[in-house]
Amino acid sequence: MRIPLFRGKTRWGLLLLTLLLSSLLFAACGGNPSILNPAGPVAQDEANLFWFILGVATFVFVVVEGILIWSIIRFRERPGMPTPRQIHGNTTLEIVWTVAPSIFLFVVLVFTIRTMFQVDTIPTGGQQLEVTAVGHQWWWEFDYPTQKVITADDLVVPTGTVVHVKLYSNNVIHSFWVPNLTGKTDVVPGHDNEKWFSVDKPGTYHGQCAEYCGLQHANMAFNVIALPPDQFATWVSGQQQAAANNPQYARGLALFKSKGCTACHGIVGVNLNDFNTQPQTLVGPNLTHFGSRDMIAGGVLKNTPENLAKWLHDPQAVKPGNDMPNLGLSQSEVNDLVAYLESLK
Ligand code: CUA
Repeated sequence: MRIPLFRGKTRWGLLLLTLLLSSLLFAACGGNPSILNPAGPVAQDEANLFWFILGVATFVFVVVEGILIWSIIRFRERPGMPTPRQIHGNTTLEIVWTVAPSIFLFVVLVFTIRTMFQVDTIPTGGQQLEVTAVGHQWWWEFDYPTQKVITADDLVVPTGTVVHVKLYSNNVIHSFWVPNLTGKTDVVPGHDNEKWFSVDKPGTYHGQCAEYCGLQHANMAFNVIALPPDQFATWVSGQQQAAANNPQYARGLALFKSKGCTACHGIVGVNLNDFNTQPQTLVGPNLTHFGSRDMIAGGVLKNTPENLAKWLHDPQAVKPGNDMPNLGLSQSEVNDLVAYLESLK
C-alpha cells in the first residue's frame, strides 16, 4: 500500500515552521531594545556569538533533517516490496555520529569562551568613565564618584568611552541589562560585580532589571542616554551645581521641607551640603536635578508635570509596593511641588 507523503496536517506543520523561522529573521530587524541590534562593541561581540551558534545549529539541522527526509522518501514502502533486510549496529556510523557532534560543540565552546573573555576584560586605554549602578527596590541610582554627580533612572554617558560600571545592592539581587549595549550581570548584595560597555552613537537605549526582585521587578527600568563627549561635559558641569532656589517656587520648596520628603530624598542646597556618591545614603532618589531627567518613578513614567502630579497624588496607585507613601496632598500642594521639582534642571 502506498503511503501518501503529504496530508493536511503536514501542510499546516510546514506553514507553522515557515512562520517560526521567518519570525526569527524579523526579530533581527526590530528596533529598540534588541540584542540583535547592537550599538556598541560588547553587544556586537555577543550578537556575533549568537549568529555564529545559530549558523552552526542551522547547518546541523539542515544536514540531519535532510538525511532523515531523504531516507523516509527513498526507503518508503512500495507495493509488492519484500520485507527489508534486518540490520543491527554499524561501528563506522556510530563513531561518525559521536565524533561529528563533539567537533561542532567544541568549536562552539571555543567561540563562546573567546567572547566571554572579550566582554569580561575591561579595556584600560582611551576615554574612561566610572559609574556605580545601585539597585534599589525598584529603581536604579547612578553615582559618578569622579564627577561627584548622582542621578536616578537616567544613566548619561559620553559616546566612544569605556563605561566601567560597578554594580551595588544592599537589598536583594537585581540584574543590570541594556540589550543594545551589554548582556546581563547580576547585582548581588555583598558581592560587588562590575562590567563595562561602550556606546558608538548618541541616542537613548532602554535598560531593564533582569532578575526577579519583588513586586515591581518588571517596572525597574532605566535609560542609557549617550551624548557626544562635549555635550556630556556640559551635562556634568550642570549636574554638579547645587539646586537653583528660585523664589518663584518658594511654596513648593517649603512643602518639600515640611511634608516629610527630606526623610527619603535629598536636594543639594536644601537638605544636603554636597553630592555624597557613597551608594545608598538615602532611601529615595536624589532630586537636585530632577527636572532634567527623562524618566521618573523607576522608569515607569515619562517626566512630565502631569505624570509627576499623578505620582504625588497616589504613588501606590502608579507602582504598588514602592517605598513612597501617599502623603494626602491637596491639589494646590501637588501643583506647587510639581512646579518646584520640575524647575530643578
Ligand atoms: Cu530589580 Cu528586578
